Amino acid sequence: MAETYAGAIDRGLEGVVACTTGVSSIVDATLCYRGFTIEDLAANSSFEEIVFLLWNDRLPNSDELKTYETKLSEGMALNLELINVLKSLPTKDVHPMAWLRTATSLLALYDDKAQSTDDADRKEVAMKLTAQMGSLVALFERLRQGKDFVAPKADKSMAWNFLYMISGEEPQDEFVKVFDTCLILHADHELNCSAFSARVTSSSLSDIYSSVVSAIGALKGPLHGGANEQVMIMLKSIGSVEAAGEWIKTALANKEKIMGFGHRVYKNGDPRAKILRGMSKELNEKAGSPQWYEMSKVIDDTVQSEKGLLPNVDFYSATVYNSMGIPTDIYTPIFAMSRVSGWLAHIFEQFANNRIYRPRGEWSGKENQKWMPVSDR
Ligand code: ACO
Repeated sequence: MAETYAGAIDRGLEGVVACTTGVSSIVDATLCYRGFTIEDLAANSSFEEIVFLLWNDRLPNSDELKTYETKLSEGMALNLELINVLKSLPTKDVHPMAWLRTATSLLALYDDKAQSTDDADRKEVAMKLTAQMGSLVALFERLRQGKDFVAPKADKSMAWNFLYMISGEEPQDEFVKVFDTCLILHADHELNCSAFSARVTSSSLSDIYSSVVSAIGALKGPLHGGANEQVMIMLKSIGSVEAAGEWIKTALANKEKIMGFGHRVYKNGDPRAKILRGMSKELNEKAGSPQWYEMSKVIDDTVQSEKGLLPNVDFYSATVYNSMGIPTDIYTPIFAMSRVSGWLAHIFEQFANNRIYRPRGEWSGKENQKWMPVSDR
């Protein structure tokens, strides 16, 4: 007889506390990275500073920040051998997240420190992965347009370089600032699905690349990071501000999930969505496309009144990226470009205090089966 368990099964591990963490925290509607509120960091910090904060548990001094800025921007360059191998991967009808997952795995084969367990080597691997995730996304975008890789500029930020590398044109200051804020907002989020995946893989004492590839796979799904792309697809298929309310009511009546709404932890709103809502309004008005924000607002109001659900980080980020001319299917890869910094902080934390994750599953299958020869079946 299979073992059964007296306690309730926590489907989706809701409410289960799986580890301690000092990386980021969510209390009610307050998100903090290393004890600093997301509002404070989004208003005052830079993505490079956030990377330092997440990995070192404190803000950098000016020399330390300069070092991170230099390492990250210089690290964005991809070597020619790797570019040539990546050029051989298909891009047509390939989802950029699938390509990014494969490309990140390939990156490990060109890194002689990939398997090292030395702390300094691991930090180098982390720096390279964080610097190059955005370069891989940019390379994918260029390759599918039949264009060449644009080399990053060493004296520019990661946000500046990413926008430059996807378009080949120097970005406007305003877009750089907005994009940098988006990177800050997406950098970490406690024990979310992808960070947990990274930690589960690390807990077997596997290597950093394997852990990050696990996390990319988890982020790709539409219930997690993949929702931002789905939000823009939904807005485009609704088509107009006037149609939005009825469209949503019909979808809810059909028991469909509205992408970009709801959250396992936040019940009183996602603080990142509030910041992104303001950015979406301003940017879409300036871009001469206010309908995207207005449509989003109607959807927001309708989902709240009909279902009591609030928008999460993925809802308004979609129209922020759209207003900047970023292709819809690279919204989730951009999420990965930022979140890799948080995954790495979690991986380091897991290595520092490891115990393998190994939960149980209550048996719900057949009992007492007996094998018989194929001729008798
Ligand atoms: N639209 C409509 N109904 C919803 C939504 C939604 N977006 N989210 C939750 N609900 C409903 C469910 O249908 C369910 O209703 P029921 O009790 O009548 O069956 C109830 O609310 C609870 O929903 P669950 O899916 O059980 O909530 P869970 O905590 O497991 O999932 C999740 C959270 C995945 C975020 C969910 O709200 C969802 O699927 N949202 C849409 C996808 C999305 O935006 N994901 C991004 C999340 S943020 C991030 O990961 C970066």
